[in-house]
Amino acid sequence: MEKQFKRTLITTALPYANGPVHIGHLAGVYVPADIYARYLRLKGEEVLMIGGSDEHGVPITIRAKKEGVSPQDVVDRFHGIIKQSFEDFGITFDIYSRTTSQTHKQVASDFFRKLYDKGEFLEKTSEQYYDEEAKQFLADRYITGTCPHCKNEHAYGDQCEACGTSLNPTDLIAPKSTISGSVPVMKETKHWYLPLDKHEPFLRKWILEDHKEWKSNVYGQCKSWLDMGLQPRAVSRDLDWGIPVPVEGAEGKVLYVWFDAPIGYISNTKELLPDSWETWWKDPETKILHFIGKDNIVFHCIVFPAMLKAEGSFCLPENVPANEFLNLEGDKISTSRNWAVWLHEYLIDMPGKQDVLRYVLTANAPETKDNDFTWKDFQARNNNELVAILGNFINRALVLTEKYFEGKVPVAGELTDYDLATLKDFANVKADVERLLDTFHFRDAQKEAMNLARIGNKYLADTEPWKLAKTDMERVGTILNISLQIAANLAIAFEPFLPFSMDKLNKMLNVEPLGWDRLGATDLLSAGHQLGKSALLFEKIEDSVIEAQVQRLFDTKKANEEADYKANPIRTNIEFDDFTKLDIRVGTVLECTKVPKADKLLQFKIDDGLETRTIVSGIAKFYNPEELVGKQVCFVANLAPRKLKGIVSEGMILSAENNDGTLAVISPNKNVKPGSEVK
Ligand code: MF3
Ligand code: ZN
Repeated sequence: MEKQFKRTLITTALPYANGPVHIGHLAGVYVPADIYARYLRLKGEEVLMIGGSDEHGVPITIRAKKEGVSPQDVVDRFHGIIKQSFEDFGITFDIYSRTTSQTHKQVASDFFRKLYDKGEFLEKTSEQYYDEEAKQFLADRYITGTCPHCKNEHAYGDQCEACGTSLNPTDLIAPKSTISGSVPVMKETKHWYLPLDKHEPFLRKWILEDHKEWKSNVYGQCKSWLDMGLQPRAVSRDLDWGIPVPVEGAEGKVLYVWFDAPIGYISNTKELLPDSWETWWKDPETKILHFIGKDNIVFHCIVFPAMLKAEGSFCLPENVPANEFLNLEGDKISTSRNWAVWLHEYLIDMPGKQDVLRYVLTANAPETKDNDFTWKDFQARNNNELVAILGNFINRALVLTEKYFEGKVPVAGELTDYDLATLKDFANVKADVERLLDTFHFRDAQKEAMNLARIGNKYLADTEPWKLAKTDMERVGTILNISLQIAANLAIAFEPFLPFSMDKLNKMLNVEPLGWDRLGATDLLSAGHQLGKSALLFEKIEDSVIEAQVQRLFDTKKANEEADYKANPIRTNIEFDDFTKLDIRVGTVLECTKVPKADKLLQFKIDDGLETRTIVSGIAKFYNPEELVGKQVCFVANLAPRKLKGIVSEGMILSAENNDGTLAVISPNKNVKPGSEVK
């Protein structure tokens, strides 16, 4: 038997307050959580949605140091920006607080203390890097050195960004403290560990046997963690930013950010409901759901549940519908590389278009695999779906009613078979959308809602009421009555997805928001009901608007490449085998001509020792074609052929690029036999 619950507590990952939030946050966590919360509220269920900023941790101290301000300054600034962005996008938190709140400090501290008193921690002393000049232990990110794998000299203590390997600080060759620049020394330090290994048997059963219904990406990740075997995890750090470890002799030590942050869900509930918060966390009739991104799975499915279990009085989550990642135009979103669409900037460029972004992010939600956001797709979904299907249908139904019936809902006369079939068609939508929402398939649920608009559009296109207006007003009335019932149904079905637009639609229909239980009904608007004034719900987005966004990203990419080059002028090492894959040869230029309508390209015919080969090269700005004929050049002979301006180019001519961008073709300094290998 499925478990019955009385109420639902929705938590959303607390974003780090070390930068603003972007479309990846919205797509992965906050839009799905908000859709779900709105859906439950529409059904009249008891629900809370908890959010807040994650304000501790090393990334915040690093940003503060870089800017020469205090960590508190950093989190104050970004907490404000983040909170505003969520409000602007209609994310309906019951509370959005922060982990620097007094309540949280107390709750997290008490939580630690309770586990400590119960003997749930191990105390262990280990050696860690210490900066003797700055007189502090160094977090992994505060140590740089040479990567043992690729020899990149700017690797961090936790990761080499050049080759992607995760590292321990002790792996680094020639480690250096980023705080003082000095060479760190090893020094003993004591920390508290949560013995995850002790909780492993419980976690195995709870997840692998009792929660087989979790999304496969979540279940799979948990299984692989469990199968690797769990180790004790340190829950304290040597850092001067965070919640002090509430134990004597722990001066200079704070709770690890991943220990305090999830407790923030509890603290924020308590801040909102000081008297009744325990019902939401301790009554088994509360269903707890954690909405998160995939990088948070282990903390929410393994570490936090182990903490709650050890504490003893809390309920564990019923489900953790984690999403994968959203990429941007093919590349991973990155706060530090400014590769993102920031929510606060989006609203400056696209005022009033919150729902368009919500719609597109849900349509592309990374529910089962990573997905890509592109501006072209954004435009296409707006123009071809929101405008052409949903907006168009609503507009036609309302405008026709204004035109023929002075904006009053007409009486439905006798129904034809086609009318009945249409009504039957959309009666199913409710059950379908519900089933999908209940199982966190938001993308498909939204698709179903859009299908309802498609049904409406098709109905109007097939019945063509505008053609009947002269001959059969009663029939026109019936058609419009049915169309308006569909419009009112859309206002319910789309409310969780497009709340701003459905608000407008309710005003146009002149109704108070209808409950979810009314979805599928054909009597939502009674005959004679006066509608409000119609207006367009969505507008077409022009190419120029999209091009400006793409250009901005292009500029970012260029700036990043330049910065990378400055930081690391020589590319990452490759193996000798990789080098020998390149087949570079010398050839003699037989012909060289300009490529028509391409001011950068020259077309070469080259004697490569075996035959005549065609190569297109982007050096037209730097040579007259005639001066290259008879010369020898070096070229990559085994590059897969590519079409450039309609010409198949069979290789690439090598040139040296000057720092002003001018190019000089590479030639051997003595003539050699065409086809000679360059090695
Ligand atoms: N700040 C973390 C991140 O952005 C998420 C913390 S979720 C919580 O990845 F559970 F710890 F709150
Ligand atoms: Zn490396």
